[in-house]
Amino acid sequence: MGIFDSGLGGLTVFKELRSMLPGENLVYFGDTARVPYGTKSPEAVIAFSKEIAAYLLEKRIKLLIVACNTASSLALDAVRKISPVPVMGVILPGVEAALRTAPPGGRVLVTGTSATVNSRAYSRALAGSGVKVTERACPLFVPLVEEGWCTKPVAETVAREYLAQYRGKADALILGCTHYPLLKKVIAKVMGPRTKIVDSALAAAQAARTELADRGLLNPGRRGRSEFVVSDAPERFSALALALLGIKTGRVAVKRF
Ligand code: DGL
Repeated sequence: MGIFDSGLGGLTVFKELRSMLPGENLVYFGDTARVPYGTKSPEAVIAFSKEIAAYLLEKRIKLLIVACNTASSLALDAVRKISPVPVMGVILPGVEAALRTAPPGGRVLVTGTSATVNSRAYSRALAGSGVKVTERACPLFVPLVEEGWCTKPVAETVAREYLAQYRGKADALILGCTHYPLLKKVIAKVMGPRTKIVDSALAAAQAARTELADRGLLNPGRRGRSEFVVSDAPERFSALALALLGIKTGRVAVKRF
């Protein structure tokens, strides 16, 4: 199975997949040379996503997971067009999980990168469901995570700046960026106990497992391999994967485009 993100964020999906599907071979690509995607144009995100998809498809994967909300918002159709294997994004699973949480007529707050929010992908996916949707871009969250500063006081200061105005006012908050689960504690603290935090990384991994099972493609067993490839700075990626997510990557390969 192939998984990609602009950087570290998709590792939140990888981690759920690794524990749910121990028999699968997983190859993760982090586009560390070009992160962040959230401030780039749709054209750039589509071009990068297609390049990475083509690279992962060469590795004979059976399912491709776009573990990046920005790329899922902007490039899913383009990637599907070039892929002979099923392609899954992270938006629909997050939306479905939010709708299981928020009551009819309830308020859902979607957080994401500027590109994701500007694309309105979540509002479109939630349209007609009966919930009220507010979208809020939180552009400083990704650099905080990529810097490994998730538990520093600055993380809470930034989260308050973006989200304090919604405290007590939302039934569910969607972590609409795969970097954001790493800030979940701080976000939950700022939002208060009334708001359920919806982790789209977990929801996406569950959806991938269902997809494989439905297609009869699940690999039983417990000896799946994990492979990591980045477009720059492999040592830094490896160190942060361990520090932030407890993932031991072993050797990380480099693929430059
Ligand atoms: N983790 C990504 C997302 O889910 C992208 C963050 C970024 O590169 O800006 O949107």
